[in-house]
Amino acid sequence: MALSTLPRKENDGSRMRFSVAIEQPFSPAKEQEIMLETKNLRVFYGEKMAIRDVSLTFPKNHVTALIGPSGCGKSTYLRSLNRMNDEVPGCRIEGDILYKGEQLNRPGTDVFEIRKQIGMVFQRPNPFAKSIFENVAFGPKHHGARKALLEGIVEESLKKAALWDEVKDRLHTSALALSGGQQQRLCIARALAMNPDVLLLDEPASALDPVSTGKVEELIAELKKEYTVAIVTHNMQQAARISDTTAFFYMGELIEAGPTSQMFTNPQKKQTEAYLSGHFG
Ligand SMILES: Nc1ncnc2c1ncn2[C@@H]1O[C@H](COP(=O)(O)OP(=O)(O)O)[C@@H](O)[C@H]1O
Ligand SMILES: [Mg+2]
Repeated sequence: MALSTLPRKENDGSRMRFSVAIEQPFSPAKEQEIMLETKNLRVFYGEKMAIRDVSLTFPKNHVTALIGPSGCGKSTYLRSLNRMNDEVPGCRIEGDILYKGEQLNRPGTDVFEIRKQIGMVFQRPNPFAKSIFENVAFGPKHHGARKALLEGIVEESLKKAALWDEVKDRLHTSALALSGGQQQRLCIARALAMNPDVLLLDEPASALDPVSTGKVEELIAELKKEYTVAIVTHNMQQAARISDTTAFFYMGELIEAGPTSQMFTNPQKKQTEAYLSGHFG
């Protein structure tokens, strides 16, 4: 149906959310460089299809929030973006994962190389039982960075993760003595030390107190100047605060994606409207 043929309600005071039908699939950024993209992505656990033909683009220097009720496939989708699902027994992926246009979902792809460029941070902070310094230096060391460079990498990564000032005098003490919020920023620093392009964050603040959550949110706003960010969050206020694009998943499908301000004020699909107004999930 063309837009002009849709019945237009008079403004009767109710919201007119469904008066406009968008028939084109959402394409957030025609002019922007696309860093990462999936086309018709399907993810299976055994026979069960957990992700159903999801096509979504992640523009450079852009924060994309993935929202939806528990169990709808947000983590599964996020993990497929850097081939982390390879580590899950019985998990199989079909479709395209394109990083700067290059197919990642093919045999022979160097997954360690991918994970350097597409870093990931999980819900629970998971620092190694090592010093703060060794946590951040771990990846670069493993990939052969010379010792002389490590101090610089550690300092720069901790600064980018907004943690340097809090830890610069205790770099060689245990990371496990840090607060939860500090540990999560340390995990972000550990990912940044690999000099990635993309950061995948799976509910990075959900185990944190409000002050630490605020710090992580501020940090994400800062990080997008340099990185492309995909973040899973079940906190809708958080999605509204920090993301440019919001993608709503439900039962393994991408129901709708669009500019965050539009998604929250004028979602195009009934399921999105229902979810955002707290009717399920
Ligand atoms: N390792 C696994 N093995 C089998 N099924 C899984 C596994 N991980 C997740 N699932 C299933 O896939 C679906 C999506 O889960 P998940 O991606 O964790 O959702 P979300 O992150 O949105 O809560 C759920 O039905 C879940 O039970
Ligand atoms: Mg999850």
